[in-house]
Amino acid sequence: MKNITINVSKKYDVFLGDGIIASCDEIIGSVISPKKIAVITDDIVDTLYAEYVERILSSNFSVKKYVIKNGEASKNIDTLTSILEFLASNDFTREDALVSVGGGVVGDITGLSASLYMRGINFIQIPTTLLAMCDASVGGKTAVNLKYGKNLMGTFWQPSAVICDTEIVKNLPVDIFNEGMAEVIKCDIIRKCGIIDAVIEDKIKDNIEAVVEKCILLKKDIIEKDEFEKSGQRKFLNVGHTVAHAIEKLSDYKISHGSAVGMGLIIEAQMSKKLGYCDNKTVEKITKAVKKSNLYFDIPYNPKDMVCAMKKDKKNDNNLISFVLPKQIGECFEIKLSPEETENLISFVI
Ligand code: GLY
Repeated sequence: MKNITINVSKKYDVFLGDGIIASCDEIIGSVISPKKIAVITDDIVDTLYAEYVERILSSNFSVKKYVIKNGEASKNIDTLTSILEFLASNDFTREDALVSVGGGVVGDITGLSASLYMRGINFIQIPTTLLAMCDASVGGKTAVNLKYGKNLMGTFWQPSAVICDTEIVKNLPVDIFNEGMAEVIKCDIIRKCGIIDAVIEDKIKDNIEAVVEKCILLKKDIIEKDEFEKSGQRKFLNVGHTVAHAIEKLSDYKISHGSAVGMGLIIEAQMSKKLGYCDNKTVEKITKAVKKSNLYFDIPYNPKDMVCAMKKDKKNDNNLISFVLPKQIGECFEIKLSPEETENLISFVI
C-alpha cells in the first residue's frame, strides 16, 4: 500500500493499493476515532462494495448505512437534507464520522453533508470509480447541483483520508471505466505525463495503479498551491469543464459527467485552435484519446442554449465566461470570453 500525503489546511493521506478496502477499518482507525460511522452509498454500489465495507467496519465501530439513488439527478438539496436528517435521527454527533462509498456523486454529497452537519464532522472517502479516484475524492470540493447549474452549492471540506482500492477500478464495467478516462486524459492536458500516448496505444489498463497515482500526484500538487481556488492554479483542473457542465445541465444530467468532460475537452481544444492558441496536432491527439475511450458523441444542443447554461459557471466574473483552454499537451491557460464571442466560437466548432 502507498500513502500520498496531501498537505493542505487539514493534512491527510490518500491510501492507494490493490485490495486495501479489506483493511478500511484499520486505515480509518489509524486516522480518526469515531464512536459511530454513517456509510453513505448509492443503490448500485451498495451491494457491490458498501455492504462489504459496512461488515468490515462493524467489527470495530457502530455502523449505520444510508443509501441514495444512483446518478447525478440525486445530487440535490433534497438528498442532502435526507442525509442530514438521517444523521440527526440516529443521534450522530461531532465525535462521529461519515464514510462515502461510491463515485463522484456520493463523494460530493457526503462531503457536503459532513461539512454542514453540526458545523462539520469528519469524513472518509472510499471512491469506487476511476473518475472519483483520479479527481473527485481528493481535494475537498463538496457540492450539490441547483436547478440553475452544476455544483452551485458547496463547500471546501477536506476528508480525513481517501482509500483508493485499485482492484476496484480493474473490475469496473467498461462504460464506467471509460467515463473516468475523461478526467485521466485531462491530467495529461494540464501537465504532460504520457497518459494521452498511453490511451492511444491502449496501455492504460495494464498500468492502472501508476495512472491513478499520477493523477493523484498532479491533484496534490495543484491543491497544495491553491486549496481554495483563489490564486488560479486550481482552476486549471477545470479544463474541458465549462462546456461539460453546460452539456450536463442541458441534458438534465442524463449525459454523465465523464462523457460530458470528454466532449468538453475536444470542444475547448477546438475553440483554442480557432482562437489561434493551439495547433491542429494537439486537437487531433485529444480527439483521438477521447474517441479511443468511447466518449465521443454528437452534441445535441444549440450554441445559444449552451452559452445560456455556461453563464452560471462558478468561474465567471463580470458577465464573461471563463474557460481553461489547452495550448498544447501539458499547457493550459485561462481566458474570459463574452457570451457573444463564446456563441460564435461554439457555433463554429460544433
Ligand atoms: N474537480 C476539480 C477540483 O477538484 O478542483
